[in-house]
Amino acid sequence: MTLIYRSLHPTFAAEVSGVDLRGAHDAGLLEEIRRGMDRYAVLVFRQQPLSDTDQLEFAQRFDGTLHSKTGAAVLGGNRFGNEALTDISNVDERGALLKAGDRRRAYALGNRLWHTDASFQDPPGRYSLLSARVLPPADADTEFADTRAAYDALGEEHKAQLEGLHVHHSIAHSRQTLGFVFSQAEHDKLPGAVHALVRTIPGSGRRALYLAAHASRIVEWPVPEGRLLLGELMEHATQPQFVYRHRWQPHDLVIWDNRATMHRATRFDDAHHRRELRRVTTLDLQPQGSA
Ligand code: OGA
Ligand code: MN
Repeated sequence: MTLIYRSLHPTFAAEVSGVDLRGAHDAGLLEEIRRGMDRYAVLVFRQQPLSDTDQLEFAQRFDGTLHSKTGAAVLGGNRFGNEALTDISNVDERGALLKAGDRRRAYALGNRLWHTDASFQDPPGRYSLLSARVLPPADADTEFADTRAAYDALGEEHKAQLEGLHVHHSIAHSRQTLGFVFSQAEHDKLPGAVHALVRTIPGSGRRALYLAAHASRIVEWPVPEGRLLLGELMEHATQPQFVYRHRWQPHDLVIWDNRATMHRATRFDDAHHRRELRRVTTLDLQPQGSA
C-alpha cells in the first residue's frame, strides 16, 4: 500500500490518503505512518469513520501504550468507562450541552491555551489521535504550531542559552491562568512533571522546543526570569509562519506529535452547538538510560 501525502503547510502537516486505518495492521504500513509523523508532525486522515474501539485499537497498534492519566482522567469520571479515551466535547453524560457555569466546561476551556498533551505527567504524551464525531455548523478549528521549525529559527546564541534547561509543567498552573482553581486534593493528584526545554526527537533527529501553557517555571532559574523566557518562547513559537489551522470535517482523524508541536482549540459558540471529538494519547516512554 502506498500512502499519498499532500503538504498542508511549508514546514509541517500533511493530509494522507490511500489508507483505511481500521484495516491498518501491517507492520510495514504502521512504520510508514510513523515515518510520516517524524517528517510532518501532524497528519490528517479524512473519511475515517472510527468507533471508540477502532480508535483505541489503532492507537495501540500504532504506538503500543496508551496514556490513562491525562488531567480529565485523574480529576473526574470518564463517561466512556475507559480512561484512555478522552472526551473532547461540550456535552454531559446524557449528551446535553454543558451549562456556562459547569466546572467541566470551565476545565475544557483550557484546551484553548497553546499546549501539548499530558506534559504535566511523566511519562508525558507522545502521539495524540483526535477523531471528529459531531461538529458544529460554524468552524471550530484546531491550530497547531511547529516547535521544531520554531527552534530552528532561533539564533545560535539563543539556542545555546536554552541548553540544559528544564521546565516544570503543571496543569494546575495553566488552568489557574483562566481562573480555574484546583482543590488541595486535586493538586496532590496532579503535582506536575519536569522535562527538558529542548528535546531531540529520536525518529528524525530534529530538535524541538517543548513548551505549553502548563509550563510554570524553568527549574534552573528564578521564577520571574523563567516565566519571562517561557512567555517569550511561546510568543516566538506561535507566530503565523509556524502555525497550521485545521478545519474539521466529520470523520477526520488527526494525529500529532506532542514532542514536536503545540496545539489549541479555537473559539466557537459552545452554548448552542454540540462539538464532540474523542482523543487517545500514547505514552512517551523513553528507552532506559536516555536523557
Ligand atoms: C485535544 C485538544 C483541541 C480541540 O484534544 O487534546 O486540545 O480543538 N483539542 O478540541
Ligand atoms: Mn490537547
